[in-house]
Amino acid sequence: MNHDFGKVGIEKDIQYECITTTINRDGVKNAGAFAFRYLGEDMVFSSIFEGSKTLKNMLDTREYVVNITQDPLVFTYVTLDCLGDEYFTSDDDIAIIKNTPAYIIVDVVDVEKKTLKDSNLYFVTGRIREFIINDENAQAFNRGLSGLIEGLVNFSRYKIVDDEKRKEYMDRLVENKRIIDKVSDEKTRKAMADLKAEYEKY
Ligand SMILES: Cc1cc2nc3c(=O)[nH]c(=O)nc-3n(C[C@H](O)[C@H](O)[C@H](O)COP(=O)(O)O)c2cc1C
Repeated sequence: MNHDFGKVGIEKDIQYECITTTINRDGVKNAGAFAFRYLGEDMVFSSIFEGSKTLKNMLDTREYVVNITQDPLVFTYVTLDCLGDEYFTSDDDIAIIKNTPAYIIVDVVDVEKKTLKDSNLYFVTGRIREFIINDENAQAFNRGLSGLIEGLVNFSRYKIVDDEKRKEYMDRLVENKRIIDKVSDEKTRKAMADLKAEYEKY
């Protein structure tokens, strides 16, 4: 089945930053910020480093929820590990962020462990069980556009700053381009490539 992810701005094979919520075997809810990819049909994908509560809960319960939100406080409190219980719905058997604009309930179908030099990375493939839109303005967040806009703002100052600042802007641009090439759609990748070519003229 194909899901209408277009309504929340999700395209196949592009990366979005979302809040993944899980519940542990004792019923304790957890939320973590994680990248999310839609693989097409019913399938989704996340890559998660060993050590996170999210990964442990996913492996134990074989389910998780991808909350589509752009709420700055939710992203921040989740990452600072201080998101209060009041941020979750009152469901006992599943963890969902209250009033999240949209969410996807996912069943874990495959887990592959990749051993890296300093850590282990898990590739988690899931099948969509349910996709709910609470707010018709819901949009998943792709961080590529932020990097592009930063590069554009800096470009407007690039010609008038000293060499040290210029190097700083170029380093930021190169890093943002690396991210965009990884997470963004074709249009954003082209925009960034064109912008970099302009930077290189100075
Ligand atoms: C926007 C954002 C995206 C992130 N994406 C990932 C990711 O895709 N994989 C991962 O392993 N960690 C990712 N992290 C880091 C985890 O959120 C972090 O390790 C967190 O402490 C895990 O929380 P948990 O232990 O409650 O699961 C991301 C962090 C942020 C802020």
